[in-house]
Amino acid sequence: MPNLAAPKPRVLLARRIFPDIAARMAEAFDLDYADDDQPLSPEALRQRLQGKLGLLASGTEQITAELLDACPELRVISLMTVGHNNVDLAACSARGVRVSNAPDVLTETTADFGFALMMAAARRISESEHYLRRGDWKQWRVDLFAGADIHGTTLGILGMGRIGQAIARRGALGFGMKVIYHNRSRLAPEQEAPIGARWVSKEALLREADHLVIVVPYTPASHHLVAEQDLALMKPSATLTNIARGGVVDDVALARALQQGRLAAAGLDVFEREPQVHPDLLACANVVLTPHIASASVPTRRAMCELAERNLLAAFSGRPMPSLLNSF
Ligand code: DGY
Repeated sequence: MPNLAAPKPRVLLARRIFPDIAARMAEAFDLDYADDDQPLSPEALRQRLQGKLGLLASGTEQITAELLDACPELRVISLMTVGHNNVDLAACSARGVRVSNAPDVLTETTADFGFALMMAAARRISESEHYLRRGDWKQWRVDLFAGADIHGTTLGILGMGRIGQAIARRGALGFGMKVIYHNRSRLAPEQEAPIGARWVSKEALLREADHLVIVVPYTPASHHLVAEQDLALMKPSATLTNIARGGVVDDVALARALQQGRLAAAGLDVFEREPQVHPDLLACANVVLTPHIASASVPTRRAMCELAERNLLAAFSGRPMPSLLNSF
């Protein structure tokens, strides 16, 4: 029987979410709702967190050791994103602050989008649409926007976690692609076999892939994992798709490779200084650019918010959090 007299936990909901989910949270918690699409500034976040026990945040709010020290009552941080590079997890663990993210619920949707972005880059869909809208289309031409094939080519996946494997399945089973991947750890043989996936070195991946899709988490170790010298190994006919995080790819080096014809095309959903996009990338016709929306289907974005809500509810009712990140 819930103790109706007990005060509700004080929680900050730091980003605008779906109204019905926010309304439900307002019943369960003593909720301070930052009902805005504009992220709180670091100072506003610090102020609004005073006295709060819980925080529901996105991948944008920077959770640093300094912020935690300034908000000593904070016990639980629940992210609505799977990526958690905005949170200093070690600092949270050291202070006993539990942190959860939103894995699994976005895997298939994000893989759909990664595949779509790869196909759009290879088949020059954005570039040709802009041409048509500008009124430049005067006649059919045998090589008009002739791009690269997807079926039967080699799909290279950098980062073979849940989303990487979901992309590999699409490539192997739907498009007859040969799948190679590079990851710190190899998949078990029974995971590799159904999709014919083969682990290769990073160098071999870059050299052999016709279409490279990047899905590694962003950490200090993966900063500029794909830089000038890596791009130089790729086939000039290849495409590169990044749905991981800005910073994994050196955007300036990528723009140079695209401009100089050392890479055929790219599909980018994430950027080093997003929401700013490097002007050299904006100037490239052969890149498809999207505003960090790989997981943005309505059901999936709702599921991400609901998982974040469930994590908070579990934490404050003494149950295990479904996707706790700390290993205390
Ligand atoms: C995630 O969940 O990490 C997606 O990139 C959305 O930010």
